Amino acid sequence: MGRKKKLLRFADMQKFPNAFEPEMEAFFDRAIGGVKRHPLAGNWNSQVFKNNHPIVLELGCGKGEYSVGMGRKFPNKNFIGMDIKGARIWFGAKEALETGLKNVAFLRTRIDFISAFFAEGEVDEIWITFPDPQERENRARKRLTSKLFIDRYRQFLKPNGLIHLKTDSAFLYNFTLDEVNLYGYELVDHTPDLYGSSIEKYDLDTQEILNIKTYYEGVFTEKGHIITYIKFRV
Ligand SMILES: C[S@@+](CC[C@H](N)C(=O)[O-])C[C@H]1O[C@@H](n2cnc3c(N)ncnc32)[C@H](O)[C@@H]1O
Repeated sequence: MGRKKKLLRFADMQKFPNAFEPEMEAFFDRAIGGVKRHPLAGNWNSQVFKNNHPIVLELGCGKGEYSVGMGRKFPNKNFIGMDIKGARIWFGAKEALETGLKNVAFLRTRIDFISAFFAEGEVDEIWITFPDPQERENRARKRLTSKLFIDRYRQFLKPNGLIHLKTDSAFLYNFTLDEVNLYGYELVDHTPDLYGSSIEKYDLDTQEILNIKTYYEGVFTEKGHIITYIKFRV
């Protein structure tokens, strides 16, 4: 993407009422070398969505296809897409605004700081859509389904909260199944080939959700990658 286009999108994002781009100073406390609560934590429903509906997160949302797609399908739930890349989030935020989806918002930040943005029990469900698999051993802690991240999510997920992972990476799929097993999370569902033979086993609503295609899903499918899916409770 050209630099000019990117700058225009960054400028747009600052005006979008459904996109939040907090300054690091607002939640990273150098004195303690960690995160402190951001003012939005505990207040997403009262300040942003103005309702009391369940909150679902999409992590590494890119252009936010899941947040927008599920937001459209479930008007009685609120969706927050998170990514560090503002020029990608712009697509989802713009579409949500233009189509009047008041239950979809975006948060531009590193997911590493996620626990600063939500209060205990504030989130019902998490979707992780095609995250970077971080295959190198020294990147294991960067995987969004590693224990380090799951422990962060647990700080704000409701007890027994659901986590969904959709990935083209057989490596991340197997790593996540191993983590589920190792730490005793509850495996609800998993398939190593979602579109191969498994998708018809789901009810039509679930099929519709699982059939939402993200930008990177398209890229990986073109390369012949098989799409996998895991659903578990932590
Ligand atoms: C492969 S892309 C997938 C994007 C989108 N979900 C899709 O399927 O098209 C991975 C995304 O995760 C984001 N990401 C990776 N690590 C992140 C982190 N620690 N914090 C925030 N975003 C991150 C990247 O910026 C990128 O947009």
